Amino acid sequence: MTGYSGADHTAETFTLLERNLSPHRAAAYRAMGGVPAQAGGAGAEIHTYDGRVLLDCRSAGGVFDFGHRPPSITAALRDALESRDIGDWMLPSLPRGRAAAALACLLPETLPYSFFTASGSEAIEFAGKLARLATGRRGVVCAERAYHGQVGLALAMSEGPGPSAREQDVVRVPFGDIDALRAAVGEDTALVCLETIPASAGVVLPPDGYLAEVRRRCDESGALLLLDEVQSGLGRTGRIWAAEHWDVRPDLLVTGKGLSGGVYPVAACSFTEEIQRSLADDPFFHPSSFGGGELAAAVVCAVVEQVSRPGLLDQVRATAAVLRTGLAEVVGRHPSVLAEVRGLGLMLALETRDEHGGLALMRAAIDHGVLATVAHNAPSTLLVMPPLIITPAQAGAVIERLDSAARTVATGSTGPALRLPI
Ligand SMILES: Cc1ncc(COP(=O)(O)O)c(C=O)c1O
Repeated sequence: MTGYSGADHTAETFTLLERNLSPHRAAAYRAMGGVPAQAGGAGAEIHTYDGRVLLDCRSAGGVFDFGHRPPSITAALRDALESRDIGDWMLPSLPRGRAAAALACLLPETLPYSFFTASGSEAIEFAGKLARLATGRRGVVCAERAYHGQVGLALAMSEGPGPSAREQDVVRVPFGDIDALRAAVGEDTALVCLETIPASAGVVLPPDGYLAEVRRRCDESGALLLLDEVQSGLGRTGRIWAAEHWDVRPDLLVTGKGLSGGVYPVAACSFTEEIQRSLADDPFFHPSSFGGGELAAAVVCAVVEQVSRPGLLDQVRATAAVLRTGLAEVVGRHPSVLAEVRGLGLMLALETRDEHGGLALMRAAIDHGVLATVAHNAPSTLLVMPPLIITPAQAGAVIERLDSAARTVATGSTGPALRLPI
């Protein structure tokens, strides 16, 4: 029982979707066999208007790291609303300062400064501007099949402050190929930007030694290293930052998604003392109406408290071990559908044998009560990223339900093959 009364709200959701949001998206949901409309959620559960309870193995990429409506984070936001509003980005702010200090406690001591933004994309944009300002160079090297967000044109069209996006050259190299990266990084490279574990590319682990070599190449050439931990950070892999697994320290680190506690949008770019010195002549160089908002600041402090909770990382590692072992058995039972399970901590992926098989498995998983999503730059892959607070019993249920989903795909009962561009 979810407490939501269903048919009317479901119908209204889809009517409004067709009429005022996106008829094409409505058609896409229909093609996927009818994706239920979300009504709310609690912990690792998503509740739908038609009375279903899905186990969330998507977490919106980490937005719901601490589950849906986590009580202490929701309470921090409610308390903040009693006495503050978003605040003016241009004025000094005590809550913003406290949020930055809290975040610094989670970061290596080499990254004491943070700039808050309203989205991960904007934090990446800020990092790119900062790197170009700090180095006086324009080149950016990133990975093929990377995903860092959706902004860029606004910056390209805006006249200052800070270096213009029109001055950047982006080169892509295959993730994990150190020779390609070494060749691409040169004396005009301002920034090397990598997801520590690329999620949209299907949860690709960096080969051992790769990130250390990337760090070395940046040091040799004077380029700055940005690690995007928007999906992999805040405990997802069993360490606070995925980069800790390979003992690599970036010059800039971007976090987002889970930093919102699932209740208020916020992301951050954290950076070194040396980089912040380059802002001496242009301290206001990145205006952002909602960046560093005072409501967001309260949420950041509450999230940092959750990430620092004794036992959280042990809990993530223990649940991850259960889930991974169970999913490996599922792979073994359905070899015609599944090739492998891979990943680190609760950042897992099931590789299917069909180059577009992630979508069929996603559809079957929803039918069996699990929301998991296809990796949009690797359509053969289903991402399995539950909230960090998923219970062992729920992890067991996820294994059983994904087993049923794989069986459904194996018997061909998911209907025609799907090729949706999502
Ligand atoms: C690795 C990574 N970086 C950056 C972003 C952009 O974040 P946002 O959607 O908050 O702009 C995303 C979003 O999915 C992401 O997965």
